[in-house]
Parts: sequence; structure tokens; C-alpha cells
Amino acid sequence: MKIPFNKPLVLGDEIKYLKQAIDKNRFSGKGEFTSKCAELIKKETSCEKAIMTPSCTSALEMCALLCNIKPGDEIIMPSFTHPGTANPFVRQGAEIVWCDIKEDTKNIDENKIEPLITKRTKAVVAVHYGGVICQMDKITSICKKNHLYLIEDAAMSIGSRFKDNPAGSFGDLAVISFHKTKNIQCGEGGVLLINKNEMIERAEFLRDYGTNRIHFEKGLIEKYTWVEKSSNFSMSELQAAFLYPQLKNLSKVNEKRNLLFKRYLKNLSDIIENNKLPVIPNGCLSNGHCFYIHTKNEIQRKKLIHYLKQKGIQAVFHYQPLHKAAFWQGKYNNVDLPITDFICDIILRLPMFYSLTIQEVDFTCLKILEFYKKLS
Ligand SMILES: Cc1ncc(COP(=O)(O)O)c(C=O)c1O
Repeated sequence: MKIPFNKPLVLGDEIKYLKQAIDKNRFSGKGEFTSKCAELIKKETSCEKAIMTPSCTSALEMCALLCNIKPGDEIIMPSFTHPGTANPFVRQGAEIVWCDIKEDTKNIDENKIEPLITKRTKAVVAVHYGGVICQMDKITSICKKNHLYLIEDAAMSIGSRFKDNPAGSFGDLAVISFHKTKNIQCGEGGVLLINKNEMIERAEFLRDYGTNRIHFEKGLIEKYTWVEKSSNFSMSELQAAFLYPQLKNLSKVNEKRNLLFKRYLKNLSDIIENNKLPVIPNGCLSNGHCFYIHTKNEIQRKKLIHYLKQKGIQAVFHYQPLHKAAFWQGKYNNVDLPITDFICDIILRLPMFYSLTIQEVDFTCLKILEFYKKLS
């Protein structure tokens, strides 16, 4: 049996919608399929406006521009995340202030944010790890009290809920990824969600190379012009046509992943202690993005990866903490993130994708059981 870590989602209908886009001879952004995707996402997340982008990173770049991030500003975020979370703010000249995470969810520790706030703090980025939303009650109130922008990095969390509210509905801004590794995907892709009405028009200018082309398209002006420094942040129609049927089937996809998640949890609860398995806190509804276990230490993780590989199973780990990344060397020597450091060494992600079968989950768990039996 060969079980990869991920198989990018293809439901079968993608080709039909791609053909429609091709037949319409419409390939660039802001077409029928980008609008349809944005509408579905708006409904799903209850955001004020959704703008389809070429990636989640580019949606985060728009966030940094919309919040006018400049040299000297400080942004609080976890170090246990993808470089794509930090890059857009660093490129604007901001300093990143790393916040530690919680051992159970791997999300930013809401109790450790306030001591990090200074006069220079401009925003907090809450990364919803693995489909489990951060404690948004507390984080929202901290940001309100301190007049900070709140940005949700929901790259992995489309369809997740916190106290019945969807990922993307809490922040001033939020982003989602449609990279091939995500629950629904179009190779590369993302969306920017805007919950502040006053940011919408500027976001539309930023998407269009920093021009007021949208006013021209609406017939408000005779010709459009370049109004600010920006980029091209449009998702192409081909990406959107591929993504559209997957978005329509989001609930079905997330339900299946949650079924697999529950099976892993049931099988492994007998072998592995509860505090070494994923936790979904009360009030959180996950989209089943990932399943992981904690190994005893880094050496045991390496051995388990090797053992599973011999049995045809691909298990992987991430993230390398950003505060220890090559790019960050020497920037902050005294950052103390004990939970982040600990988790990065012991977390091991197991295969998780829509077409994974219950039998494959059972087989993977059996091999993990064999590994631990041999150890004892
Ligand atoms: C938390 C997080 N933020 C941002 C990104 C970047 O997303 P993209 O690859 O769509 O640019 C990722 C990518 O996986 C991610 O996991």
C-alpha cells in the first residue's frame, strides 16, 4: 500500500468549468468565475467583500498595504507559521514580534499577546492552525481595546467555525489559501476577505495595479489612472473556474475530512496519550484540515517517519519556526518561545486528503501501533 501525505483535490467537474471559461474566451481576472467564487466565499464567511487573489500570500500583501504598514511598525504573530504570513509585513519594513503558541491547538496564545503590545504595535495576525480557529473572543477584544488591526490568517481554515461564526468573520481582514495542499484548491490561489467597509474601495484599487480602473468600469470616470503603489492581485479566470466546483462542494469535502480525523482519533486514542493528539476546544468546529500526533522527541519522530516510509506511508512535519529561520538569524537573540520550540520538534502530520479511505487510515494507525509496540 502506498499512502501519500496529500493528494490535491480533484472532484471531476473542474474540466467542465474550465471548458466554459475557455469557450467564453475569458482568461484574465474579474470575470464570471472569479465573481461566482467570491460570492460563494462571501456567503460562507459572512464577510463584507471577498477579492480573489493569485495566492494567500498576495492576499496578505494586500492586508499589509491596506493597514498602511511602514518601517517602525510592529506586528504580533506566531512564529509557528508559514513564511507567507510574515513576508508581506517584513517587506513593508515592519518588525515582527513573535508570540508563543498553545500546546493543545498550536494557535497563538491569547494570554501572551497583551504583554507584547507597545506604542509601535499596529496589528495582530491570528493564524488558525490546521482548521481550528484561535480564541477570537479574547483576541478581538484585545485588538479593539488597543486600536490594533486584526488580521486572520485562515489559510488552512475555510469552513471552520468558532462559536458558530465562520473563519474570516472576526478580523478587519482575513485571508484563505487555495494552494494545492488545502481542503479545496486550484494549484495556487487565495482570497482576501474584508470586513471594514471603508477598506473596500482601496482594496479594489490595489488589486488593479494601484489604479482606479474599477471607477472606469463602473462608468464613473472617462479614463482610469495610476493612484498608488501596488501590484496585480487578480486571480485568473482559469484558477477560479477550477476552484468553483470545489467551493460548491466545500461542506461535503470538509465532512469527509472530519470523518477521517475522527477515525484517526478513535484508533490512536488507545495507543497515544490524549495530550499528544489534536485538541478541538469547546465552541470550535474544525474543517478537518490536518491530523497530527506528538512524538516523544525529535529522534523518535525521525524514527517513526522512517518506519512509516518503509511501510509506504508518507508522514511529514512543519513548521520550522520562523524565529529560527535562516532569514531571521541574528535579528532577535532573546526571543523566548518555549512551546513553539517544543512543538516544532515533536509534531508529526499524518496523511490527510479527501480521497483517503478509512482502510488507509486504519492501516496507518496499525503501523503506528506496531512502531510503539516495538519501542516498549
Ligand atoms: C498559515 C499559512 N499562511 C500563509 C500561507 C501561504 O499561502 P499561499 O501558498 O496560498 O500563498 C500558508 C501556506 O500554506 C499557510 O499555511
